[in-house]
Amino acid sequence: MKIFPNPEFVKNAYFKSFSEYKELYNYSMNHFEEFWANQAQENLTFFEDFTQVLDEKYFPKLEWFKGWKVNICYEAVDKNLKKNADKIALIFEWERWDSQKITYKELAENVGKSANLLKSLWIVKWSRVIFYMPQILESVYLMLACLRLWAIHSIVFWGFSAESLKDRIEDLKADFLITADWAFRKWKPYLLKNIADEALEKSSHEVKKVLLVKRNFEEINISKNDVIYNDLIKSQSEICDFEKLDSEDTSFILYTSGSTGKPKWIIHSTAGYALWAKLTTKWVFDLQENDIFFSTADIWWITGHTYTVYWPLLNGWTTLIYEWNPLFPKEDRIWEIIEKYKVSKFYTAPTLIRLLHKTGENLPKNFDLSSLKVLWSVWEPIDSETWDWYFETVGNKKASIADTYWQTETGGHIIAPFPFAIPMKKRSAGFPLPGICWEIVDKNWKKLWVEENWFFVISKPWPAMARWIWWDDEKFVKTYFSDIFREKKPLYFSGDGWFYDEDWYIFITGRVDDIVNISGHKIWIAEVEDIVDKDENIAECALVWIPDELTWEALFGFVVLKDKKNISNKDLLQKLNISLRKEIWPIVSLKNILITSELPKTRSGKIVRRVLRNLAKWKEIEGDLSTVENKEILWIIKEKIKNFN
Ligand code: PRX
Repeated sequence: MKIFPNPEFVKNAYFKSFSEYKELYNYSMNHFEEFWANQAQENLTFFEDFTQVLDEKYFPKLEWFKGWKVNICYEAVDKNLKKNADKIALIFEWERWDSQKITYKELAENVGKSANLLKSLWIVKWSRVIFYMPQILESVYLMLACLRLWAIHSIVFWGFSAESLKDRIEDLKADFLITADWAFRKWKPYLLKNIADEALEKSSHEVKKVLLVKRNFEEINISKNDVIYNDLIKSQSEICDFEKLDSEDTSFILYTSGSTGKPKWIIHSTAGYALWAKLTTKWVFDLQENDIFFSTADIWWITGHTYTVYWPLLNGWTTLIYEWNPLFPKEDRIWEIIEKYKVSKFYTAPTLIRLLHKTGENLPKNFDLSSLKVLWSVWEPIDSETWDWYFETVGNKKASIADTYWQTETGGHIIAPFPFAIPMKKRSAGFPLPGICWEIVDKNWKKLWVEENWFFVISKPWPAMARWIWWDDEKFVKTYFSDIFREKKPLYFSGDGWFYDEDWYIFITGRVDDIVNISGHKIWIAEVEDIVDKDENIAECALVWIPDELTWEALFGFVVLKDKKNISNKDLLQKLNISLRKEIWPIVSLKNILITSELPKTRSGKIVRRVLRNLAKWKEIEGDLSTVENKEILWIIKEKIKNFN
């Protein structure tokens, strides 16, 4: 069923109708280079013009806008001073109730001072800077300051353990670490500096300096390698020149997602990334002058980079950032904030929507949420029940619901419903953005038709595509360009399964590889298996994902015990989860396990995961079992699962 957008909002929308969108889309496909050249020139300032739009000589390593000189910090900060100096750039809200508003002028001053401070520490061109920071204003100033100087930031979630942080410091061979004394959650301080110290102590790589932002709640240990932001910032000048970067210079490096220690460090370019962030804002978020944008995405994920920090600022918008738990101190905190700031555009994930629905179905009704125009969703497919509640109770049937699909690797949205141009369809992520040439095919390049679910590929490059995996060219090609070919040319494969319906609306069915999506955090299953395998009781294990009402997906483990251990499912589960929480981070746990005498294996000794995936989901044993050596175990497992509590 299609639901039409509120006509009141359509009037001023960027795309007012499907045909307007389609016209730009067709133009982008038929005049590919001209389209990109025009978009680049209209949207970004270039200090030197480009000589070539796209160079594919070393495909899939691409060069966009060759010869162009740009700076993202200039685009996001300096450029706004002309028109928006007194406009609010950032609203900072946290659970202790005090909030702060920062204008573009104040942002420029803080970024200038922070950049000079970084310079004074010899954080310069190409320095690699790891952030282990809470979501506070200083994090934003320092991210922008890095881009100003062309130091490369890599932001690590502060919830990660010392071990995970150590892995990242070593992987990146970080030159500097920026951290704070505390992060807050549920009025409880987390001692970041102590964790950072532990990581540095364990690390085989030494950083040159640690920059510490003090929030001054209690005293903490300061070592001789630490410098204190708060002391040094006072004497810095607000004026700091910016570097003119080549289009292809690295803007930042980020782990794809998840918490795991074998990550893919994704490299993003400068011009292509900034251009896409700007364009998706116009097209998908339908930028309007007085919008207040609230994204619940944390800065340490790509959504936080692109859509909490960079794109609102690149477009002179007002963006709200917070440090908090969404249900704390009260379950209606989000609705209160939307009412308080008259938020017009709200961006979050189905996991959070489901949680808010569960914990306070009628709470939105106690607030004036009439400022809301669009409610976006991202990270996982949004189920029907959640969609209905979001639309009816939160949006009061006036705001559009828009599900956006993208990946860390895509830099920004690639599939989205243009909220006022296209009627909504539940669970659909909409249509490809202009410039995104997509197809749904099988591995032999057979094109598939309506409702056939298979691989989603992108057959033409776009400027924001990740450029490379840090120090691992081979892995980049293997991960994204080794599955599907046309005339021997490899095409970008997202790793997700999709189908489209008779109206060409796209529906995402999820990962086709071994990644679990727990509350929007994508975790590589093999990594969790590694830790489970280490348990003294366990001989071997196979983990698979199962659907979960609250977290979208969860982990289910099939385990074989060593010797004749006498331990119950329940006790073992509890024990494993304690190790997982300690060794990875709190959201990673197994929902359930089943102890079995053996795992189904092929003759060559490979665990037959595809059948285990079905069994864990209470499905039938099906598919080709000819290569399974010990088939009988499948029926034993099936019987056990039937009697599982
Ligand atoms: O499987 C898809 C899922 O999230 C993956 C990308 O995760 P990450 O790199 O952490 O990017 C976060 C920014 C979105 C995708 O490969 N995914 C993302 N959006 C959706 C989604 N699955 C279904 N519906 C979505 N809207």
